Amino acid sequence: MNPTSTPQPITPAPAPAANRTSEGAHNGAGSGGGSAASEAELRRSWLDARTCSRWLARPVPPQLLQRLYALASLGPTSMNSQPMRLKFVVSDAAKARLLPALYASNVDKARAAPVVAVLGMDLAFPALLPRLFAHKTDAVAYYEGKPERVASTALRNSSLQGGYLIAAARQLGLDCGPMSGFDAAAVDAAFWAGSTVRTNFLCNLGYGDRSGLRERPPRLGFDEACEIL
Ligand SMILES: Cc1cc2nc3c(=O)[nH]c(=O)nc-3n(C[C@H](O)[C@H](O)[C@H](O)COP(=O)(O)O)c2cc1C
Repeated sequence: MNPTSTPQPITPAPAPAANRTSEGAHNGAGSGGGSAASEAELRRSWLDARTCSRWLARPVPPQLLQRLYALASLGPTSMNSQPMRLKFVVSDAAKARLLPALYASNVDKARAAPVVAVLGMDLAFPALLPRLFAHKTDAVAYYEGKPERVASTALRNSSLQGGYLIAAARQLGLDCGPMSGFDAAAVDAAFWAGSTVRTNFLCNLGYGDRSGLRERPPRLGFDEACEIL
């Protein structure tokens, strides 16, 4: 992505009427206004949502991808750095560049998916901080001569942004199939050549065909993974 390109206006969807408050962020209750998502919303995005490997032959229009990005871009990143860059692979020609870089087990999934998002991380993200985090005048200096800090920040925040993308996609009625089984150097060469962007992971997007879906793999319980101190 060209770091000097004009940013697109962000026009997220308005909150459902039931969740809107007249006071909103002014009542001290945060953007949720203290109310939880409805059971139906939790079901769509979490309880019933599954990683999909098979896909219906139903296209995902470009406007939906734009809306998806507009929502996902609102998720927080450190110093508002937003290192995630995306290539939405849709055409046969772009698919032909991607498929040879995938592990064999992922090829059919990606071929059938209406969209494969290539999620990259821009290691030159500090150059945009004067615009994205203007009030912190020493933001760029914090990263100067610190390639490990740049790399870990890019990986952490682009991974978070990938998670926001998955959550937003599900809220928009899409299914997701994230993939890390690919040759990263080959995907970099195919999609980010000559740039400062490196691939983080891939994510199939579309309307999932749930036939043949295995039982959901178990999650760690609260007591295994968490501790309240
Ligand atoms: C970053 C990431 C990489 C993944 N890589 C692959 C992959 O290469 N191939 C694959 O079939 N599934 C892959 N998965 C899917 C996971 O195995 C799946 O999301 C997990 O088992 C949970 O399944 P569920 O969402 O159906 O509960 C990946 C998931 C994530 C988040």
